[in-house]
Amino acid sequence: MRSKFIFQSLFTLTFLVAMLVFILGSCADKAPKHSRAAQAERGEVLFNEHCASCHGENKDMAIVDTMSITPPDLSLIKARRGSANFPVVEMARMIDGRNLVKIHGPRAMPVWGEIFADQGDTEEAIRDKKGELVAYLMSIQK
Ligand code: HEC
Repeated sequence: MRSKFIFQSLFTLTFLVAMLVFILGSCADKAPKHSRAAQAERGEVLFNEHCASCHGENKDMAIVDTMSITPPDLSLIKARRGSANFPVVEMARMIDGRNLVKIHGPRAMPVWGEIFADQGDTEEAIRDKKGELVAYLMSIQK
């Protein structure tokens, strides 16, 4: 009688521990992937691949002699506006470029929404990339 009880308790305990390990394991898997820091890290990879040629590798502005417009230093977006908050939506739109109202004359910056779509990205993948790029830009503001 007593040994059956011990056996059942041990079984239940083992089961609970296994559940806990499983739950903690899946949390550990998900939280970092969606954290701002992890997003910014993926954004930095994208930035070095697509943007650094004009905006300068790792924060500092590169001078692009062949362009008539000097690409802005993207670590000064907040400073230039004197704003406390990073304009997340506006910058995501600016990067995408497909739905911008054309009031500022010709655009010197490539239309990334179109480029990513042409490379076969789904709208969801494009949204993720913009989110990662914006997270990276937020992380380099001075
Ligand atoms: C061919 C050069 C070039 C490349 C490559 C480029 N940009 Fe730009 N970017 C510019 C120029 C020039 C501007 C100024 C606005 C304009 O004339 O289009 C600009 C403006 C911006 C702005 C607006 C800044 C502000 O303060 O309003 C953001 C944000 C930006 N770029 C992000 C990016 C990101 C992210 C990438 C990579 C996915 C990228 N750029 C790649 C040239 C470039």
